[in-house]
Amino acid sequence: MATFSPLNVGSFEFWETPFDVREKVFAELRANDPISWQGPPDSLLVEPEQNTDGFWAITKYEHIREISRKPKVFSNSEGIFLEDLPEPVRVGALSFIVQDAPEHTFLRGIVSNAFSPRHMKTLEDWTRDLVIDLIESIRPKGEADICEEFTKQLPGRIFCSFFNITEPQQVHDAIEGAEMIVSWNDPDFTKDHEPIMVFANAAEMLQDVAYALAEDRRKNPGEDLMSWIVDAEFEGRKLEDWEIGGFFVLMAGAANDTTRHAMAHGMLAFEQFPEQKALLLSDMEKYLDGAVDEVLRWSSVILHMRRQVMEDYEIGGKTLKKGDKLALFYCSGNRDEDIFEHPMEFDITRSPNRHITFGGGGPHFCLGSVLGKQMLKHAIREVYTRMPDLSIGEPEYLASSFMHGVKHLPATWSPDKGV
Ligand code: HEM
Repeated sequence: MATFSPLNVGSFEFWETPFDVREKVFAELRANDPISWQGPPDSLLVEPEQNTDGFWAITKYEHIREISRKPKVFSNSEGIFLEDLPEPVRVGALSFIVQDAPEHTFLRGIVSNAFSPRHMKTLEDWTRDLVIDLIESIRPKGEADICEEFTKQLPGRIFCSFFNITEPQQVHDAIEGAEMIVSWNDPDFTKDHEPIMVFANAAEMLQDVAYALAEDRRKNPGEDLMSWIVDAEFEGRKLEDWEIGGFFVLMAGAANDTTRHAMAHGMLAFEQFPEQKALLLSDMEKYLDGAVDEVLRWSSVILHMRRQVMEDYEIGGKTLKKGDKLALFYCSGNRDEDIFEHPMEFDITRSPNRHITFGGGGPHFCLGSVLGKQMLKHAIREVYTRMPDLSIGEPEYLASSFMHGVKHLPATWSPDKGV
C-alpha cells in the first residue's frame, strides 16, 4: 500500500480551517497527487479500532465523474461519509443512499414519482409564493439571522409539503432534526451529547415523525410521499416501519441542509463580489440562471461522498484495490483548473458551468436537483429584488467534513428599499 499523503485531508484540524485555505491543499493535491492515499480520517463516531485504515482522496473533476458512473465497481453500501457509522445506525438512518441496485433502484423509484415534471411545476409556483411570504414577513425588521429566519425555513417548509406535514410539532421536529443530522462534529451540538448521539438523536426525532405519518397515511391515504411509500411493494412485500423511518431521515437531510446552505453561500458570495451583485441587479432575468449555477459551484455544499471499491480498478496511474475506501471531493472538482477558468472567481456569466455539486452522474445523482435549483432561483430573485441593499455580517460556519454549512448569518437591509 502507498504511504500516507503528507497533505492530510481527513483530520478535524483540516476541516476547521477556512474553505480557501483548504482549497490550497486540494489545489496542490490536484497538481501533484490527484489520487492520494490518506491515513484514517479523524472520527468520534466509532471506536478507533473500528475506524477505516485509510482512504483514497479523489480530487480531480474527471476522476470524480468516472467513479460516480461505475456503481458496480464503486459501492455506496458501506457508507457515504469520510467517517464510519456503526452499521445499524447507517442502515437504519440513511436508506437508499447507502444501497446499491437492485434495492436502491426500487426505493429511489418510489420517490421519483414525487419529482415528476408536473409536480415540479406545481411546486415551482408554490415555492415562489413561499419565498415571497417568508421575505415579506422579515422585511419590516431590517435585520435578522437570515439563516434562522429564511434559508432554513424555505426548504424546511417545502420538504414538509412533500409529506403533507402540517402539525406544528411535526414541522418543528422535521426542520430541527434535519439540521441536527449533519451536525455531529459541531461544538454547538456536541456540547451536550457525544457525536454519535447527536446523529442518533436526530435520526430518532425524524423517525418518530415518519412513524406517526405512516400510521396516519395507512388509514387516510392522500396525495403525498408518505402515502406512496406505505403503499409501495418490493419483491412482494411492503416496507417495514424501520425502512420507512430511514427513508424519511435521508430525505430530510438531503432536501433541507443542502439547499439551505447553498442559499447562504450565495448571499456571502454576492457580498464578497459586489460587482457580480451589481451585474445581477442590472438584468435579473438575464443573469439569474447563471447565478444559480455559479452559486452551486461556488458553495459545493456537499463536500464529499464516499464509495467502497468492489474490484481492483486502475485510474490516474493508481490501482484501487477491492475493499479500499475513497472520497469524491466535489469541493475540489468544482475548483479544478482543467475544467473551470479562474476557478477561484465567482462569475455568474461562467458558461459552460458543468459543476458537480449534485454529484458526478450515475445512479445516485441528486434526486432533488431540479427542486434545489428552483428554490435557489426564487430565493436569489426575490431576496435581491426585495432587499437590494442586503448587507451580510460575519458568518458562523458548521464544523463538518461533509456539509459546507453556514449556521448563522447576520444580515441588515433597508425595509423600504426594493419592490
Ligand atoms: C442545493 C441543493 C442540493 C445539493 C447541492 C444536493 C447534492 C446532492 C449530492 C452531491 C448527492 C449525492 C450524489 C452522488 O452520490 O452521486 C445528492 C443525493 C440526493 N439528493 Fe440532493 N442535493 C440538493 C438538494 C436536494 C433536494 C431539494 C432533495 C429532495 C427534495 C434532494 C434529495 C436527494 C436524494 C434523495 C439523494 C440520494 C439519491 C440516491 O442515492 O439515489 N437533494 N444530493
